[in-house]
Amino acid sequence: MTGRSPVNPSNARVETLADTAVEHERIPPGPQEKYRPNEDLLEWMGRQFEAFGDIYKASVYETSVYAIRNIEFAHHVLVENWQNYVKGQAIRRVALLLGNGLMVSKGELWKRQRRMIQPAFNHESIGRSTKLITYVNAKLLRKWQLAAERNESVNVTRDVSSMALEVVLRFILGDDYELVGFHFDLLSQEPARNMDFAVSFRALGKTILQVIERRRKDTAISTDALGMLLQARNPENGRLMPDSQLIDEVLTMIVAGHETTASTLNWAWYLISQHPDVERKLSNELDTLTSGFEFVDLPRFLYTRQIIEETMRLYPAGWLLTRKALRDDRLGEYFVPAGTEVYVPPYFIQRHPDLWEEPDRFNPDRFRPDNAKRRHRLATIPFSTGPRNCIGEHFARMEMQVHLMTIGRSLRLRYIPSRPLELEAGVNLRSKYDFNMYPEAKITGTSGAA
Ligand code: HEM
Repeated sequence: MTGRSPVNPSNARVETLADTAVEHERIPPGPQEKYRPNEDLLEWMGRQFEAFGDIYKASVYETSVYAIRNIEFAHHVLVENWQNYVKGQAIRRVALLLGNGLMVSKGELWKRQRRMIQPAFNHESIGRSTKLITYVNAKLLRKWQLAAERNESVNVTRDVSSMALEVVLRFILGDDYELVGFHFDLLSQEPARNMDFAVSFRALGKTILQVIERRRKDTAISTDALGMLLQARNPENGRLMPDSQLIDEVLTMIVAGHETTASTLNWAWYLISQHPDVERKLSNELDTLTSGFEFVDLPRFLYTRQIIEETMRLYPAGWLLTRKALRDDRLGEYFVPAGTEVYVPPYFIQRHPDLWEEPDRFNPDRFRPDNAKRRHRLATIPFSTGPRNCIGEHFARMEMQVHLMTIGRSLRLRYIPSRPLELEAGVNLRSKYDFNMYPEAKITGTSGAA
């Protein structure tokens, strides 16, 4: 921070202007030492919030970063002045994987693509997808029931990942999943997210192109997401989406929709297994199911929904949103120079001690409907907020609920602690080690899904 100019009684106006300039340059406090890339970024950021409060300035990956966990500031960056904040430097790595799909694109291209893709996530399309999600989860249920009968453990992390991958692929590719789905197995079988993975993943564009070319020759119109994207027309010139853009959008949806959902459900099962009272309440709620369930029945299962919300509060898959300021701006009293990276971490906002009582405790009752009024709207932002929020939010909520209901009505899962719980805060917040659990048949539950 620059010092104040010396008082000049003969020129009071100059002094006022200088003072204003000083005020404009106020920068947040922060650590002297830089973040070192071999450190755990989540743990490091947490320490700085403890030391400096809700906003601090730091040097991360040789860039000047403001990290914020103040919800008014988060609102300013993600909603109020969102156009001044493009995706931050982390997006370069994501772009290697996803090209110029919706997660990465910006400006007019992003706006147009978002409008063209949105219908694939409308109420009707999500409702239609309930069936395929139930089908995929019924297969998983049978696998876990068999393990229960044999008293064998299951790898919940891996099984839930395969389930979420099959769901997102069937949602996008419809019947073509049967033909090409196996090409995508590397997403659930290869945990590393390095350059080799990026190269193998990008090569899948060829498989998608083959499906696109086959579909373009066919007169039948499919109602799956790819079918809708193939029909979508540019609102300005009526043109269809070019193949290269279609490929990027499909790859984006697969990646964005797979690991996020899988890691949330993985955490959910871990948390449920550690809280017998929560497991009992879930079980009681699901015992009210006398037969199968459909999309319209989902809102009735409030407690299942509360578990999902509370899981995403404690372990948001997208734990850190990064942005870059295009022009100078202000966050409260602080000046934000153009080029500053702004880190908005849902993980720390959602565990903020001023917003949440006992913030680290798992308590789904926080999300009882009667508690909603007492909470700030942005106190949880697992899907981000503002125009660049998650396009798959409603789909993901529905998918996670169908999964918990299908499995939870018939089985409970006993966790086998083999290694200490450790977080892996990469692009997504995952558990470092897989969760192995013993499925056990519920005495009162009925088996099978709709
Ligand atoms: C529990 C599941 C999910 C979570 C927690 C989640 C979270 C998020 C978050 C936080 C963002 C904003 C990222 C940023 O601003 O940097 C985002 C964007 C996005 N998500 Fe999700 N997501 C989930 C599921 C899905 C699903 C199922 C799909 C699609 C099938 C999807 C597709 C996308 C896309 C395309 C974007 C970019 C949107 C844009 O910039 O316009 N997500 N998601």
